[in-house]
Amino acid sequence: MSIPAKMIVDKDFVIGQVDDRLYGSFIEHLGRAVYGGIYEPGHPEADERGFRRDVLRLVRELRVPIVRYPGGNFVSGYDWKDGIGPVEDRPKRLELAWRTVEPNLVGLNEFADWAKAADAEVMWAINLGTQGVEDARNVVEYANHPSGSYWSDLRVKHGYKEPHKIKTWCLGNEMDGPWQIGHKTADEYGRIALESAKVMKWVDPSIELVACGSSALGMKTFADWEATVLDHTYEHVDFLSLHTYYGNAEGDTPTFLARSLQMDEFIDSVAAICDYVKAKKRSKKKMLLSFDEWNVWFHSHAQDKKLDPWQIAPPQLEDVYTMEDALVVGCMLISLLKHADRVKIACLAQLVNVIAPIMTQNGGPAWAQTIYYPYLHASLYGRGAALVPLVTSEKYDTKDITDVPYLESVAVYNEAAGEATIFAVNRHLDQALAFEADLRSFGECRLIEHLVLEHDDLQAVNTAAAPDAVKPHARGDASVDGARVSASLGKASWNVIRLRIGK
Ligand code: AHR
Repeated sequence: MSIPAKMIVDKDFVIGQVDDRLYGSFIEHLGRAVYGGIYEPGHPEADERGFRRDVLRLVRELRVPIVRYPGGNFVSGYDWKDGIGPVEDRPKRLELAWRTVEPNLVGLNEFADWAKAADAEVMWAINLGTQGVEDARNVVEYANHPSGSYWSDLRVKHGYKEPHKIKTWCLGNEMDGPWQIGHKTADEYGRIALESAKVMKWVDPSIELVACGSSALGMKTFADWEATVLDHTYEHVDFLSLHTYYGNAEGDTPTFLARSLQMDEFIDSVAAICDYVKAKKRSKKKMLLSFDEWNVWFHSHAQDKKLDPWQIAPPQLEDVYTMEDALVVGCMLISLLKHADRVKIACLAQLVNVIAPIMTQNGGPAWAQTIYYPYLHASLYGRGAALVPLVTSEKYDTKDITDVPYLESVAVYNEAAGEATIFAVNRHLDQALAFEADLRSFGECRLIEHLVLEHDDLQAVNTAAAPDAVKPHARGDASVDGARVSASLGKASWNVIRLRIGK
């Protein structure tokens, strides 16, 4: 038995153009993200700079447009100057956010090289925990100023004649969180963010700045934090950030699969706060959102508590992702697409080894985790205009969340490529959905393929020994008649229905 579920989309009912940066990711100096992840000199796949080619291949396949760096919590105690100049002169530091030792073998220039090799832009986060206005202006001058000044000439002396032209900059990280090194009140943060923003843009007016919003919807200071920070910074920043992680420690899958509805609510609330400040200031500017940390994170919590401190690159936050997690990531991607008018940057946190779609073994292979696949599909086929999804679906209630539709779906129209893609998750754990999509305004459509990620065991994972245990197939049964698409969406499945527009 299957349950009916319908969607209507019209190419003129556009939510917004999808900014490429919606498919960004994140590399922090944390665990084995850098050392043993992107960088491992001596590995059989290492290039002459020590970058793992096998990892680069997986990253390039994802078409990651931008990578946030160097943190995360790490950045709030990081001196960017430790990571420049001759490697042999760089200090080893106690890293207080994650209680490790940071060897500083990779810093700004090496990461810019790596990003170039990955075909990605750098999104640099400055330290507003232990540093401030002075370092904010200096790091922009070092990275972006052509030459003829102290910091830009130092970059040239370090072997980088051309400026890195880093466009997107985060003004600190999660400064609302008491766990943050140099945690601040909203007023304290708003002031330092404003003063940093001013000097950074005076050095390079072409850059874009992201102010810290709350680190989670559940923070006690949520909403007041956003309003106060924007009161200080509104005309000087371009984006406000959001972060969220979901988990299923209690083993309640229906609730876990419904968490993306809370992501929708989070985005809607932050957009409303931005608009409130805009109205209050009689501003003409629309504040955009940067969802620069989002993912599933809970599998590694217990293991991480057992690690000894002060190691270099220990295996921290190494969540091994299940099929079920991939469905949640798929729903979160759909949530981001449904807010494509407001959310212009998003970073899957993180990219390699640390709560990541890509895993490696030191000295061994690299492979794709389950969550790699919805991220891959959205990045490859979710560029263009996100269309308003009119969805009719039966709903269910959980103890935390009510009115959860079994069908979560959105469509993206890529006019230049002459393609439209439907992304759909069936949240039902036992039954297929008899899915009908009405694409009336598109005229004739033809099926390119119907990709499906599914597994009988929702706890199935990919490992070094079985890297393909959970992998998409193209045996979905979608069929097209004119502009009507029919498909059976299997229980607990992620679906990508790709259509060619026109005859
Ligand atoms: O991504 C892991 C951590 O989660 C980041 O360092 C921090 O910003 C967030 O709390």
